[in-house]
This record gives sequence, C-alpha cells and structure tokens, in this order.
Amino acid sequence: MVSIILAMDDESISKISGLPCRPAEDPFDAQPGTDSVPARIEALGEQLRHHEYLYYVLDAPEWSDARYDAAMNELRALEAAHPEWVTPDSPTQRVGGKPREGFVKVAHSRPMLSLDNAYNEGELRAWAERVAGALTSGETPRYVCELKLDGLSLALQYQAGARGAASLKAGVTRGDGTIGEDVTGNVRTIRTVPLQVSARTLERAGLPAGFEVRGEVVMPRKAFEQMNREREAQGLAPAANPRNAAAGTLRTLEPNIVAQRRLQMFAYFLLRGEDAGEAAGEPLLESQSAALATLREAGFLVNPHARTVESLAEVLQFVAEAEGLRDGLPYEIDGVVIKVDAVAQQRRLGFTGKAPRWAIAYKFPARAGLTRLLEVKFSVGRTGKITPVAVLSPVSIGGTTVTRATLHNPDEVQRLGVRIGDFVSVERGGDVIPKITEVISDAEHPRGEREIVFPAACPRCGETLVRAEGEVDLRCVNASCPARLEEELRHFASRGVMNIEGLGEVMVAQLLGHSAAKSAAAGGEDAGLGDAPFGEMDAAGGEGLELGPARSALVHSIADLYDPEKVNRASLLGLDRVGEKTADALLEQIARSKQQPLQRVLLGLGIRHVGERTAQALAEEFGSIDAIMAAGLEDLTRVKDIGPKVAETVREFFSNRRNRELVERLRGYGLTFTAERKARGTALNGLTFVLTGTLPTLTREQATERIESAGGKVVGSVSKKTGFVVAGAEAGSKLDKARQLGVPVIDEAELLAMTPGGPALV
Ligand code: IVH
Repeated sequence: MVSIILAMDDESISKISGLPCRPAEDPFDAQPGTDSVPARIEALGEQLRHHEYLYYVLDAPEWSDARYDAAMNELRALEAAHPEWVTPDSPTQRVGGKPREGFVKVAHSRPMLSLDNAYNEGELRAWAERVAGALTSGETPRYVCELKLDGLSLALQYQAGARGAASLKAGVTRGDGTIGEDVTGNVRTIRTVPLQVSARTLERAGLPAGFEVRGEVVMPRKAFEQMNREREAQGLAPAANPRNAAAGTLRTLEPNIVAQRRLQMFAYFLLRGEDAGEAAGEPLLESQSAALATLREAGFLVNPHARTVESLAEVLQFVAEAEGLRDGLPYEIDGVVIKVDAVAQQRRLGFTGKAPRWAIAYKFPARAGLTRLLEVKFSVGRTGKITPVAVLSPVSIGGTTVTRATLHNPDEVQRLGVRIGDFVSVERGGDVIPKITEVISDAEHPRGEREIVFPAACPRCGETLVRAEGEVDLRCVNASCPARLEEELRHFASRGVMNIEGLGEVMVAQLLGHSAAKSAAAGGEDAGLGDAPFGEMDAAGGEGLELGPARSALVHSIADLYDPEKVNRASLLGLDRVGEKTADALLEQIARSKQQPLQRVLLGLGIRHVGERTAQALAEEFGSIDAIMAAGLEDLTRVKDIGPKVAETVREFFSNRRNRELVERLRGYGLTFTAERKARGTALNGLTFVLTGTLPTLTREQATERIESAGGKVVGSVSKKTGFVVAGAEAGSKLDKARQLGVPVIDEAELLAMTPGGPALV
C-alpha cells in the first residue's frame, strides 16, 4: 500500500511572487482606530503572519501586495512610536536587522547526526535486511521516503511566548553535530520559518509551546542564479553551487543580504523542546509520518514529495520517481532519505557512531560523463572578459545532453593541462554550467595533440586582448565591441535590473543587426552554457561560427532603445519573426522601464563592481545621478560598503565622456535619475560605537539606526579605536574590555542625547 501523506503543490517555493491575488474578506481583519496600541499591534501581527503563511508556505495568497504592504507599514509605524511593544517575533523583525555580533556557539539538545549512504539497489537492500534482522521476527517496518534536499541542516527552537503561542527562540546550524552556531537573526529572514505559532494553531496541531524543529535550508535555483549574476557584476567569483551559497548566506553577518537570497527551509524532524529536560531532543510524536503531518499543520514548509511505504519495492519505486522529478524541481536534491517510520522501532535500532541505523540516504549517481573535447571557442562577456568554452562530443549526463562546458580562464586550462582531442570528465553539479574536471588518459583514451591557444585579439572586434596585472582573465577593452554591446543590452534589460520583458538574447541580437539565427543556435536546447556566448572563434585560429547575413542595426547603444526614431512599431515589424503583438508589448515594456528607480538604472549601466547593494547605497546616499557623478573618491568611500576599489571604478566610469553622454541621453528620454535621499546627520562622523547588553527602550536595530543616521558606525568588537561603548542591562565582556582600554561607556539616555531627533525616538 502506498499512502500519500502530504499533498501540496510542489511549486510552492518556486512561485514566490506574481500570483493572482484576490481581495479577501478576512476573518482576522481588525479595523484600525478601534483598538488600543498593543491590541492593534497584536492584531496586525496575527494578520501578517497568517497572510505570510498563505503566501510563502501554501503559495495561495489572499491579500494583494498593496494590502500586505499597508498592514506592514501600519505595524512598522506603530512599533516605531512604541518600541516597548516590539517583540522579536513581530513580522517587522524579519528583515533589515543588524547582526548581533559574530555568532554564538550553542550545544544541540541531541547531536545532529548525519546519514549512512547507499549508492545502489544492492546497498539499499542490505540496509533493509539489517533493519528487519534487528527488529523482532515477523515485524515489517513501514518506511517514510523523503527527498534528500541539497542544503544544510538547521535546528529551530521554539519556546512558550505571549498568549500561549510558541515563539522562535533560536535557529542553530549543525556545526560539528554537537555544537552549532546561533544564526537566529538570519533565520528570521527566511519566510517559510514561522516566527510564531499561535496558541490556536498549536492546539489544532496538538503541539506544546516548547519544541524543536529540524530541517534543511536550501537556496532555490533561481535565487542562486540571481546571486551569481550579482556577484559577477561586482567582480566576485560565483558560488559553486546552491548548497554552498545557502551555507555561506546563512553565516553572513548581514541579515539584509540573507533576506534578499530567498532561502527556504523544509522541516523534517519534530522534537521535544528544552523544557522537556532529559527528554529534550527526543522525537515528540510516535512516528515520522505523524511528525511531518503535524509540522505541516503547524505552518511549517514540509516537502510535498514524501510518502510512507510498506516494502523495499515501494522504496525503489519512490527512488525512481524522485530521479525523474529531479530536474524539474526548483531546488536541488541529491538523493532520497529513507526512515523507519515508527519511533519505537527507531529506538530499538539505535545508532552506529555518527548515524542512525533507522535511516539511510540513497545518493543519486554523480552527474559526470566521459567525452571528448572537440574544440575550444572564446566568448566575450559584458565586461569584455574572455571565457574559453569547451565544445564537447555530445554526452548524456543525468538525462540531459551536454555539448559545452566552461574552462573558466587561462589558469584553469593550465591547471587541467587539457588539450584539444583529449578525453575529459565533465560534471554537472548544482551549478548550471557544466565543467571539465579532469583529463582522462589511458590505453583506451589517448591524449589529444592540439594545444589550446588563447587568441591575442578579440574574436569579435579584433582589439588586442589585455590581461591586467593580478587578474586571471583576459579582456577585450574596446568599449564598443559588438559582443560587449550585446551583453550590455541583455544585462540592462534583465530581470532585477530594468525588467524589460521580451528583450532577451534573440531580440537583442536582432536589434543590434547581428544574426538572429546564430544567437538562437548559441542559446540552444542542450545543457551547455545556458546563455551561450556570442563572439566565439576557434581556439586553433579557425573561422569560428558562421555569422548570418548582417543587417543594419536598429540600435547601437542602450540609449537608442528609447529613441522613437530608432525603435518604433514599424522598425520592430521589420525584424524576423516579430509581429504586431510582440512589437507593441516590447514598446510598452521599454516605456514602462523609464519608471525604474535610480538604483536600477545605476545597476543597468553595468559599472564594474556595482551590484544591487552598491547601487542602492549610492542612490540613497547621493539622491541623484548628478551628485554621484560629481562625487570625489572621498565622498564615495564614505558610503557604507564602498571601498577604494569600487569608488575608483565609479569615478572612472563617470569620467569617461561616452558614459556621460549616455547618461545625458537617457535623462533626455525621461529615465529616473533622482531618488529619495536617506537623511544623514554628521554629528557622529568618524565615530565608532559598540552596543552591548539590553537597552531599556531601543532595540539594537533602532540604536544602530540612530547612530548611523547621525553619521556614526556600529561595529562588533571593542578596540582602542572605539569611540563609545553603549551599555545596557546584562552587558558582558565588552563592557569589561571597554573599561580595560579606557573607552568611554555611555547608557541609552546619553546615546539619545547625542542623536537628537533621530528615528525611533519615543
Ligand atoms: S534526516 C539523523 N532528512 O542530509 C538524521 N536529512 O547526509 C539526519 N538531508 O545532515 C537528517 N534532506 O542535512 C534528513 N529529508 C531529509 C534530508 C536530510 C537532506 C541532509 C541533512 C543531513 C544530510 C545527511
């Protein structure tokens, strides 16, 4: 018998936005104006939590974004005026917080163990036999089959909070299994982690207010891709795979960044809480299937692809189904976890060293293949970066045909010692782009003979390539290289930048008068480089890809997109496969993009090292493109997170005449070049503060906000350079250190006096 114990739309985490919303008659809806402040704060908190759950966990929103924002804004305003009513589990406390200082180490109630692996049917069978053998004869165990999510495990501790609710107390990483790190501030930004489970929900789910939930934190593929695009724009190396990206994100000290990364947590264990004393960390319910059902009932995100089964044959069936699901899921999985369902049986089976005997991980086969390197082409990126792209004899890896892989840069080619004609091992990891991991050479696989020769000149425009000192990459420095222009336009139009839908690879190539046929082929269906490069040429100096018939270009720069003389209905209709609908939709999208805020435009300009956060900081700090263009190096480095390197590239960009002309033209077409400035005082310029202990009225975030608004800086540890230590109740070692070093110590009242009129003044 196979019973589906969970039935939730498996796209629940992929569609986080853009869903149709219907206005709802909401039973929770309390009317403003009729409540006392704390009652209103409570009612808003409850509503927001409920609608976040509908939106993020069930993927079935009932409120429009505007309605949600209005409630959140009302709550924020009330809390700002009444900080004494702010609780850590308020929906306002998810984002934007400042890190506590570093991460505190915390011991787990019971060790977070790992699992033994099985790599084939035989090993699974052997495990099942060991299980059956250890149980009393005649007992047939039921199993729960779950997906093995490729992320990192996390423990959430809940404790009794106000009004009988359970409140999130801490989120702790696995660490070494015994001691993990307290990453609560970051965990709060994960929308599928409830900050509070109401008394009503606890009652319905049959849960006490103190309990522990363990599960896996993953970064959805889309978020991973976006993160790497941003890293690339900032000149940083991409994260290798979503698992590393999720782990790194959870350990960053900036909850703001964590919030942007859209991490998700799938819950899979439900344990007794700390208040259970000796029994803390023991399973709370009598079976794994009951635990999953209860977790779901309590509002946690539980993976929908879990099933209880009665036999090994059904386990194998589940494994086969999971392999089939793998590529279509919005997150990575690397196998299946099989758990004995009954906790009584789990107890009897016990543990071996580091892993339970009652569970096993079936690992999918590695996604590697052996094939031959046929040739190497070179692509030109937006910043002029030259990437060697391996053209492979087609090979099927994990059900997809791979024909291309990246060789990254000249150093990587040297490291691998790879030659054209070599047999190579190719891996498709969590990352989208397959890569060559080694050269295979034996009697059956003779070495290739042709060396890979990097071109001296740009394959697209002929400009001499440069390798700057200390850099690994070769670059084309010609700002009007057609390949760079293609990439620039694609970046400008892309999601998260100017959001011009319909301006993808093929359309860009057409607008630029480059062959559409070629670009369509380059972005083909295989699992090669997803957005395969333009501007390729043969490594050994051959002809390169054939260009289709050249046509005259409609646009020669980003600004031309907005020039009605160049891009209009008639001109678009002259392009291949562009009908009236497509033309009108694109024009509408282009017109609409003029409303994108300054920070997006800045991002769109493609200034090296200027990613989303830097663009936002620049816009907020200077308030207009003119102020940014006029800023000197010193003004720029004063901005949070902008160092000398970034300041230099910003200066360089705007001192270039062509770039200034581009800005002027865009301004002429009505793009947004001003932003609301974040008001900043200068009273505390150059002073650093350290916060320690609990302040009587301000939260740590509010205190930080006040200090920063007055031009000061908040840091985590005390040194001789610290200006002031602000100490509250139960201040610890930082206070001692301040006294030792003779750093002045002040209290909240003194801080308030130093920052008059700052935000959140009661
Ligand atoms: S159970 C002692 N269930 O896989 C029980 N783990 O290789 C261990 N993982 O450390 C956890 N999906 O990080 C469990 N459905 C799932 C899982 C899962 C992914 C991870 C987890 C664990 C690792 C073991």
